Amino acid sequence: MDRAKSERLFEEAKKLMPGGVNSPVRAYGNVGTTPPFIARAKGSRVWDADGNEYVDYVGSWGPMILGHAHDAVVEAVRETAKNGLSFGAPCELESELAKTVERLVPSVEMVRMVNSGTEATMSAIRAARGFTGRDRIVKFEGCYHGHGDSLLIKAGSGMLTTGRPSSKGVPADLAKYTLTLQYNDAEAVRELFGKIGDEIAGVIVEPVAGNMGVVPGKPEFLRTLSEETRKHGALLIFDEVMTGFRVDLHCAQGLYGIEPDLTTFGKIVGGGMPVGAYGGRADVMKQIAPLGGIYQAGTLSGNPVAMAAGLATLRELESDPGHYATADARAAELVDGLKRAAGKAGIPAAVNRVGSMGCLFFAEGPVETFADVQRSDLDLFKRYFLGMLDRGIYLAPSQFEAIFVGSAHTSGDVAKTLEAAEEVFETLKPQVER
Ligand SMILES: Cc1ncc(COP(=O)(O)O)c(C=O)c1O
Repeated sequence: MDRAKSERLFEEAKKLMPGGVNSPVRAYGNVGTTPPFIARAKGSRVWDADGNEYVDYVGSWGPMILGHAHDAVVEAVRETAKNGLSFGAPCELESELAKTVERLVPSVEMVRMVNSGTEATMSAIRAARGFTGRDRIVKFEGCYHGHGDSLLIKAGSGMLTTGRPSSKGVPADLAKYTLTLQYNDAEAVRELFGKIGDEIAGVIVEPVAGNMGVVPGKPEFLRTLSEETRKHGALLIFDEVMTGFRVDLHCAQGLYGIEPDLTTFGKIVGGGMPVGAYGGRADVMKQIAPLGGIYQAGTLSGNPVAMAAGLATLRELESDPGHYATADARAAELVDGLKRAAGKAGIPAAVNRVGSMGCLFFAEGPVETFADVQRSDLDLFKRYFLGMLDRGIYLAPSQFEAIFVGSAHTSGDVAKTLEAAEEVFETLKPQVER
């Protein structure tokens, strides 16, 4: 596949932006090639600057559950943009989107719109600290919550030892307030709360982890988080930036039947525009400025065009349950087919899927923890990724990312993908046998 123009564009971009990109994973550093520059997208397909066509399973990292450039969403954006792009003043569309989110997610009694998932999680952490008057937060290995200082922290050597910054520029002094436990380890949660429960402001978790491949939270683990936080006056924050309106119209909390105190949103809530949101219990949200002393603001927050895209997306999802049925069915066909094809070629593989997000791990299953994910053969992944890209299948360039399927994906798309996978697995076979 000829990607000469993308390569030229990348060379130029590297002189202009760090790594040539505005978000690191796009630079394809892990997979030893250069990224296609995307020129346009429609439905389940994207086209690069050289005119190559791909079946897209990245979906802008999650938002495009209806497929790219869905007619209703594009129309809403076009119509709204005619009346101005941003006012920095209240507009009716903000309330319309807030009403829709609060109707679909009953634990969200009030919501605040922001501009990204990172902003949502940073703000929710501040809200938890401000509301409880405590500083410590708890998170889990393998979960990603954006690039806020308090969340770019990795575990210390023991449960109670000080966390360490996972990025330069994050003060070690701040890291000491973030404790990191193993995902899906309910016992560790009980033990920690038994020791210092009354110092913990909040626990933040991806109810289905989508940033270590896909690893579903075990119901008992999530229930334990709910019970322990409640018992100790801490807040439970479900980070549904990825899972929100993806795994279910009522989000992961709807699937599991667990009501967190706060929820963060991003991706689908903006329908492809830069939107995030956080919300939850009214008594907590009423502490946010201007009502209370927890400060948080945004010049472009709630801008009409972004609100219109999110609203059109949620309305489409709500009015036609067929979107979830189709996306989930296509995702099941895809991951089951990938597992079968890998098995036929004698390649160790496991798959996880929740709704329309899934993952193929190059590891023996089950994959239930971050340690399990880390057993994956990254070299195999890289070869698989490159083989698929050359055959017109656009996957996320990392073993630790999810496959996103949308309602625009057809059985034909899945068949093409599985055909490509069979070919690629054949080429990987000798390597496994060696
Ligand atoms: C679960 C989760 N939280 C937060 C974020 C950060 O969102 P953003 O990239 O919009 O800042 C992401 C991004 O992928 C995410 O998956």
